[in-house]
Amino acid sequence: MSDLLARLYPEHLRTLQARADAALARGGFDHLLIAAGVLRYQFLDDSPYPFAVNPHFKHWLPVTKAPGSWIVYTPGSKPKLVYLQPRDYWHVVPEAPAGYWVDHFDIVIVHEARAARAHLPQAFARCAIIGDDNAALGDAKPNNPEIVLNYLHWHRSYKTDYELAMLRVASKLGVRAHRAAEAAFRAGKSEYDINTAYLNAVHETENELPYGNIIALNQHAATLHYMDLNRAPPAHAESFLIDAGASFHGYGSDITRTHAAPQAREFQELIDAVDAAQRGFVAKVRPGQNYADLHVHAHHVLAGILKDQDFIRMSAESAVESGVASAFFPHGLGHLLGLQVHDVAGFQKDEGGGTIPRPPGHPYLRCTRTLEPRMVTTIEPGIYFIDLLLGELKNTPQAREVNWAKVDAFRRYGGIRIEDDVVCAADAPENLTRDAFAASA
Ligand code: GLY
Ligand code: MN
Ligand code: MN
Repeated sequence: MSDLLARLYPEHLRTLQARADAALARGGFDHLLIAAGVLRYQFLDDSPYPFAVNPHFKHWLPVTKAPGSWIVYTPGSKPKLVYLQPRDYWHVVPEAPAGYWVDHFDIVIVHEARAARAHLPQAFARCAIIGDDNAALGDAKPNNPEIVLNYLHWHRSYKTDYELAMLRVASKLGVRAHRAAEAAFRAGKSEYDINTAYLNAVHETENELPYGNIIALNQHAATLHYMDLNRAPPAHAESFLIDAGASFHGYGSDITRTHAAPQAREFQELIDAVDAAQRGFVAKVRPGQNYADLHVHAHHVLAGILKDQDFIRMSAESAVESGVASAFFPHGLGHLLGLQVHDVAGFQKDEGGGTIPRPPGHPYLRCTRTLEPRMVTTIEPGIYFIDLLLGELKNTPQAREVNWAKVDAFRRYGGIRIEDDVVCAADAPENLTRDAFAASA
């Protein structure tokens, strides 16, 4: 793997340099400074929150645990890494830089955060400084110029070959752990124990994962971001929804699967229908496909499933128009994915900025872009039985056209979501998730 990354990294770095050149020229800046970030402490406490590196920093190099470090890039020059290795015997000090990327940087090691200042350009007025406010180092205060950020964020949507290689690994790691979690579910384990099985298989700490695991048995799957992890197994585990990913050098996977116990055949039938629909949406991840249109299309297809399986008795069209479909599918079809699980620029109009609004009535959609090669998105449709939304639906005129006996019988399963990570290519999309499942079968 590291041979492949070593081969792909130079082109990745060249791409980032070219983007930085253009972004700096647009803003009239001479240098790009990227602060890795600093530790944040809990209120009145000396315990820090887990460190989350500035995503711009980990875009340039596969280093995620380097608080206090800086990247300095000046067009035409080799990028510089000012790397903080504090004198500290209380905590583990970041490892000395090593690996395929180090020869591409001038590396300066400092042993105190303040010492980095001397290795940054002196005239900050000429610098675009990207980072969190608290990363300020004296007069080196992050200014996060919008014109620079907009350009970088827009282009970050187009992954380099190096980034696609990273994402493939993140998917493989996540899939390996999904298999372990499913086995734990089949063995009757609790949510807590299923989560432990996942962590053991993914071999990452919870803080290293790209987002908090969602491990939900039975009706817990109706809470979209359920994270409680019951310690005791339910008497009868009939359904299992798991939304969990893995990280690789700062790139994430975001994978959801829903499983039914063998006796829950009616629920399996609904899972199969959502699964087939989801594959159909993935097949539409092609250049020129507008993501918001795909989201609306998904609403029609899912409403069709609700009708076919006799949950509702109205046409799919009127279920979508009246909002009934949204009561069962109340979130977006997906989002851009990469250095952040919900990657930046999902609504951006062009490299200059701007916003492409969501279609009215779809407040939780996270992407309205038109897809192009090298963009990576999730495709994550779902059908849920959420007491809150069903209660509201019951008070509408459309309630008459809902088969409440069947809907009520499904509340105990919670819901279904199936989520894959998909690369838009010139022709057929690459499904990182299903490829990883197929490879590990
Ligand atoms: N795991 C969060 C999401 O699917 O967007
Ligand atoms: Mn997602
Ligand atoms: Mn997810």
